[in-house]
Amino acid sequence: MFGPPQVDPPNAGIFEVMGSENIVQMLEDFYMELGESSIKDMFPEDLKTASRKSAAFFIGLCGGPPLYHQLYGHPRLRARHMPFPIDETAKDVWLECFEKTLSNASEKYNFPEEHLPGFINFLRGFSPWMINR
Ligand code: HEM
Repeated sequence: MFGPPQVDPPNAGIFEVMGSENIVQMLEDFYMELGESSIKDMFPEDLKTASRKSAAFFIGLCGGPPLYHQLYGHPRLRARHMPFPIDETAKDVWLECFEKTLSNASEKYNFPEEHLPGFINFLRGFSPWMINR
């Protein structure tokens, strides 16, 4: 691959429906799933605090304010993930944790049902970019 995968970003109307609080909760739950998974050792012990950084990123990605960029600068996601040994299996586990978090997402987080397939499609299309081993 010679650049990030060309995959449609999540629908920018997601933030308007969910708001910050629901996105923060969704990412917190996702990190709790990661903490129970076979790739848990990659993550810091304080998963809740770690999840806030990712939440800032996903808020911007879903059409909210560019919090991550404001707080931490350009995400440079592939470079930031380089220290972690991410192979195909780790990517699959990461995705499974996210997809598990997204079950009943419309009830849990007020995730707009019609934008869920596009969101999952983004995760599936973009995550292989983080594979570095
Ligand atoms: C493919 C499997 C992936 C694995 C195994 C993985 C793993 C990790 C790990 C270990 C961290 C550092 C946690 C910490 O020290 O706080 C991290 C941070 C992060 N990840 Fe991933 N990640 C993956 C995919 C993705 C994808 C697809 C995205 C975005 C769509 C993403 C977004 C982020 C963000 C925004 C951060 C915070 C970066 C920072 O520290 O500033 N990750 N990830």
